[in-house]
Amino acid sequence: MQGVTIVDHPLVQHKLTLMRAKERSTKGFRQLLNEIGMLLCYEVTRDLPMEHITIETPLAEMRAPQIAGKKLVFAPILRAGVGFLDGMLDLVPSARVAHIGLYRDPETLQAVEYYFKAPSDLADRLVMVLDPMLATANSAIAAIDRLKQRGAKDLRFVCLLAAPEGVAKMQEAHPDVRIWTAAIDERLNDHGYIVPGLGDAGDRMFGTR
Ligand code: PRP
Ligand code: URA
Repeated sequence: MQGVTIVDHPLVQHKLTLMRAKERSTKGFRQLLNEIGMLLCYEVTRDLPMEHITIETPLAEMRAPQIAGKKLVFAPILRAGVGFLDGMLDLVPSARVAHIGLYRDPETLQAVEYYFKAPSDLADRLVMVLDPMLATANSAIAAIDRLKQRGAKDLRFVCLLAAPEGVAKMQEAHPDVRIWTAAIDERLNDHGYIVPGLGDAGDRMFGTR
C-alpha cells in the first residue's frame, strides 16, 4: 500500500503477538511497547538525510557521516503514545518532544483536545507523531491538523496497529504524511475498536478501567 510501511521484522511481530494476548500484565505490556518503540524508531529514521563532518580519530583525520538538519521532534498523542517515547528517546536522546493530549469521545468517536505543548520552530523540523492505535484515525488527523496549524510541514505517523478504515481516512486527510505500522488488522467494530487488535492501549498500559 502506497505511503504505508509495515514493519515486519520478526522481533516486532513476536513482541506484538505477546502484547495482543489478553493475559499480558500491565508491566509486560508497557515494556513491550517501549521495546517496539525502539525498533519502529530504527525503521522510521532509516532514510534521514546525512551530511559529512571532519573529525579526528585517535589515529587520523577523517570525514564521517552524521544526521543533517535540526533535531527531530517526537509528538506522542496522550496517553498511549507516551508508551513509545522512552524507547525512541533512548535512540535519539537529543530529540525535542511535543505533547498532544487527546481523548476519543466514546459516543461520537471524535477526538477532544485537552493539552498541547510543542517546540516553537516546528516548521524547521521533522515531526514523528506517535500513537500505538490508528482506529478511526480521528485522533491522528486532529493531532496532525494541530501540528500543521503550528507550522509543521514534514511529518510522519508511527503506530503499532492500524485498521484499514483508519489508514484510508488518514491518507485522504493528510496524503503527505507517511505511515509506519507493525500490522494492519481486519476491521473496526461498532465501537471503533480495532479487531482483532489488542483492546484499549491506554488502559492496558496504565492498568485503568
Ligand atoms: C486511543 C489511542 C488513540 C485513539 C485511536 O486513545 O491511543 O489515541 O484511541 O483511536 P482513533 O483512531 O479512533 O482516534 P484514547 O482516546 O482511548 O485515549 P487514551 O490514550 O487517553 O486512553
Ligand atoms: N483505541 C484503542 O486503544 N484501541 C482500539 O482498538 C481503538 C482505539
